[in-house]
Amino acid sequence: MSEWVLVEVDDIPEQGGKGLEFATASGEVRPIFIVRKGGRLYAYLNRCPHTGVGLEWMPNEFFDYDRNYIQCAMHGALFAVEDGLCLRGPCMGQRLQPLALEMRREGCFVKVGP
Ligand code: FES
Repeated sequence: MSEWVLVEVDDIPEQGGKGLEFATASGEVRPIFIVRKGGRLYAYLNRCPHTGVGLEWMPNEFFDYDRNYIQCAMHGALFAVEDGLCLRGPCMGQRLQPLALEMRREGCFVKVGP
């Protein structure tokens, strides 16, 4: 059974983000983050493909200085917001793991489990 969670997204500003953690039914903790750009929301697993660490440099801060790309705070890798592709840095060519996101009548749902 897939695991979807309801996430509050009204507090995510344009070119801003939000980090969250969820426990799956199997007990695994899944760190995720959601960012908004161009009025659209994108959800990813909060693990850098370089070493697996979380990306934010402060709570809920996932963007680079110009707020155009997602940036990993550890070694500065830059990722496209739209598809999670690493465009610069030690994991260039790899991707963040995208998570399905659906807007339903009840709100924004993100798929955190299989
Ligand atoms: S851990 Fe993210 S760029 Fe190295």
